[in-house]
Parts: sequence; C-alpha cells; structure tokens
Amino acid sequence: MLLDDALAGVELVRSLEGPIVDVGSGGGTPGIPLASVLPDRTVTLLEAERRKTEFLEHWADELPNLDVVWGRAEEQPLEQFGVAVAKALAHPPVAVEWCLPLVAEGGAVVLWVGPSADRQAIATAAAKIAGEPTESPAGFAVIRKTGPTPPGFPRRPGIAKKRPLA
Ligand SMILES: C[S@@+](CC[C@H](N)C(=O)[O-])C[C@H]1O[C@@H](n2cnc3c(N)ncnc32)[C@H](O)[C@@H]1O
Repeated sequence: MLLDDALAGVELVRSLEGPIVDVGSGGGTPGIPLASVLPDRTVTLLEAERRKTEFLEHWADELPNLDVVWGRAEEQPLEQFGVAVAKALAHPPVAVEWCLPLVAEGGAVVLWVGPSADRQAIATAAAKIAGEPTESPAGFAVIRKTGPTPPGFPRRPGIAKKRPLA
C-alpha cells in the first residue's frame, strides 16, 4: 500500500537533519505522509506538472509544515534542503543527479528503490556529483552529500536522462 511504503521511510528521514524536499511528488508520496508524521519538519513537495501541484496545494492548506513548488528539480536554487526524498522519480542514477544539487553539504538523498536497483550505478553517478552511498536499509538508497555541487551541475533539463552519469 502506498501509505505503508511512504511511512516505511519515516525513521530514516527523521534521523537526517534539515528541511525536506520530495522531488517528483506526483500525488504526494512520500512527502504528505512524512509531513503529517513529522510536524516539526518543513516538507516541500516539488513537482514538474502544474496540474499535479494544484491538487497538492489543497494539502498545503491542511498541513502548516507543507509547501508546494511547481518546477523541475534541475531548475531550483541549489543546496536549500537537508534531505531530498524521491520515490519512483526516475531511474536511480538520474534521480540521484536531480536530487543531490538540492541538498546542502552534509545532507542526504533518500531514494525509495526496488530490490533490483543497481547500487553500483547509484554509487558511480553519486561520485560524479559530490555524493557517496551510505548504509541503507532494505528498500532505500541513502546518499550523503560530501561536498559542494560540482561546476556544470545541475545539467540542463533533459540531459540527465539522455546522457545518464551511470
Ligand atoms: C512516477 S511519478 C511518482 C510520484 C510519487 N513520488 C509516487 O511515488 O507516487 C514521478 C513524478 O515525478 C515528476 N517529475 C519527473 N521529472 C521531474 C523533475 N525533473 N523535477 C520534478 N518533478 C519531476 C513527474 O511529473 C511525476 O509526477
């Protein structure tokens, strides 16, 4: 169930500091459940499709710690968050490339991943953009941001999918 899936990440996200961004939030997973159970944390739902953000904005009226931003990950201000979470956003190396620039040095990206996720590909992509995988519970890939976003990133919209880092 979608809610169970989202809530499986609560303790992991709780253990990481700073404001949270849910990248490619779609219908609001995992950001809305996280905002609901972590009321002292700011959660931003970032979503590229306008129509979807209109739906998400109704939730922002209900939860005071929830913000909604319409836009693409590659076009956001850099390093504004402590944690970027993403579920079913894109192929994991692409998701890593989109999420890491949003996180400040010392922060982390948390991807909800399936059992067949290629962890070597995630590590290879992360290494090119100041990220390093760290111990991750089953079903997740946690990538620490180890330095500032390197020059040249984020690449222009479309490039990460066309020429993935791994
Ligand atoms: C398959 S949906 C997953 C939605 C939700 N996270 C879930 O697990 O149900 C992926 C979402 O990511 C959004 N998206 C894709 N690329 C994006 C980008 N570069 N920046 C922001 N959102 C993006 C899409 O519009 C879509 O709503």
